[in-house]
Amino acid sequence: MAAPHKSTASASIAVKPGANGIGAEVSGIDLAQPLSPEQVAGIGQTLVAHKVLFFRDQAIDSEQHLAFGRRFGALEVHPFASFSGFTSGGDKPELIALESTPEKPQVAEVWHSDVSWRETPSLGSILRITHCPEAGGDTLWADMSAAYEDLDDATRSFLSGLVAVHDWSNFRQHLIALGTPADHISALDASFPAVEHPVVRTHPVSGRKIIYVNAEFTRRIKGMHQEESDMLLKKLYALADNPDYQARMEWKPGSVAFWDNRSTHHKVMPDVRGYRRVERVTIVGDRPF
Ligand code: OGA
Ligand code: MN
Repeated sequence: MAAPHKSTASASIAVKPGANGIGAEVSGIDLAQPLSPEQVAGIGQTLVAHKVLFFRDQAIDSEQHLAFGRRFGALEVHPFASFSGFTSGGDKPELIALESTPEKPQVAEVWHSDVSWRETPSLGSILRITHCPEAGGDTLWADMSAAYEDLDDATRSFLSGLVAVHDWSNFRQHLIALGTPADHISALDASFPAVEHPVVRTHPVSGRKIIYVNAEFTRRIKGMHQEESDMLLKKLYALADNPDYQARMEWKPGSVAFWDNRSTHHKVMPDVRGYRRVERVTIVGDRPF
């Protein structure tokens, strides 16, 4: 279906959807400029519809990146950022920097939805590349509502009402290795205990159902024996590997990606060669239901 013609120039963004239900390139917009309310609404609707948006040739700095993110909601301060080694820290606590060098491989190579271990995981994240690698390091997204909708009726009804436990234990070794004092880690344990989210969540805007368990942060399904839980989770995680559900970003200078963290999972390809650096701005979301 063709996008409806917009009468005001400031509101007209061009949207070029990918081949399979997830991912769209958005052009006709300069993210360095203040956006009109119509543009913000247009991007917000496009995000829900296409789940990950790709912007190219954007000349923005960290401040403009933050300002763009703020138009979509409150920005998240990652609770580990100030002492975890994956932040630019300091004067911009809402900005996370992820770096990868041949000596220090990147994080995020496993499918995940950002901070699903929080009570209110993020609505979306906006990623900007600041240093393209020599090769590799593409990011992949998977459409977890399409994955849900393709399940057979029996599986869908089996999943209905199940609850999963998520936590941040995968960060723990990382924090210990970085020399994080034990009392900081205990304080994090107290502030961010394991949380429970539905295995199938409902998108608050589209109403579509979404598989909301991921290999990085989900530990088990509540009330199930660990073995049975592991088997089921493994099956659900594997759905993201189906190329039919995926979109992919090959990063070029000036590339920005904005994903709906509620309806997608993402990961970075582990084939990066050379130095790669991205900055992330994250928008606070609602409690999954
Ligand atoms: C993230 C993330 C992947 C990448 O920023 O949340 O998972 O491609 N990044 O760097
Ligand atoms: Mn991530």
